[in-house]
Amino acid sequence: MAKLSINVDHVATLRQARKAAEPDPVAAAISAEMAGADGITIHLRGDRRHIQDRDLKILREVVKTALNLEMAATEEMIAKAFEVKPDMVTLVPEKEGEITTEGGLDVQANFDHLNVVIPKLQSEGMLVSLFINPDEESIKTSAKLKTDYVEINTDSYACAKTVTEQISQLERFEKMVNLAHRLNVGVNAGHGLNYKNITNLVQIQHIHEFSIGHSIVARAVLVGFEKAVKEMLDLVKRR
Ligand code: PXP
Repeated sequence: MAKLSINVDHVATLRQARKAAEPDPVAAAISAEMAGADGITIHLRGDRRHIQDRDLKILREVVKTALNLEMAATEEMIAKAFEVKPDMVTLVPEKEGEITTEGGLDVQANFDHLNVVIPKLQSEGMLVSLFINPDEESIKTSAKLKTDYVEINTDSYACAKTVTEQISQLERFEKMVNLAHRLNVGVNAGHGLNYKNITNLVQIQHIHEFSIGHSIVARAVLVGFEKAVKEMLDLVKRR
């Protein structure tokens, strides 16, 4: 059965809108764990637009499940990971001015850099995941890099405008999951997932964990964090 890691970035987005103390992503993470979440995800961005260094430090202390740190593979962030030692680091591309992560890592173009960074993080006891698009080359290159996991970008499935397109993206996604599985790479999945589009994905085998943020935080504003997490857990654990 797939796990669910809750991304609490947008609780911090709301806090930073007023540069206030509330709402606290740490409190949200505790609520998510109380609701049964399998993990907590945060993205520490270079521009610190939502999650702050303080959040990372406190979450490392407080999270009892598994802390996944999304970050760019920059020197600054690698130093942060070494200092805090999250359970897993998910390497993502980061573009100045983007609203959210736009697409997966170019693992071919960044092969040499990743080939140094991945074993460095692993040697300090952290699992490594690479956020990649659902294409064969990216999966095969990720396997060569000996990453523990790939997180396959679900955006093209989530953004499909017609049922036909959605089915075709789903089939493509499943093929890529199976390829990664055959190459002994663990598979996580995320980006753009919500209470509707998750239901097809949970039918696919070999997905270790879903990483979901925006839709859960959006629902939590209306119904409360624990309820929003529980509702998503019900869907993820239903096969
Ligand atoms: N996975 C990655 C790599 C991401 O960058 C994000 C967004 O921070 C997510 C998953 C979660 O996406 P969403 O907020 O659309 O659920």
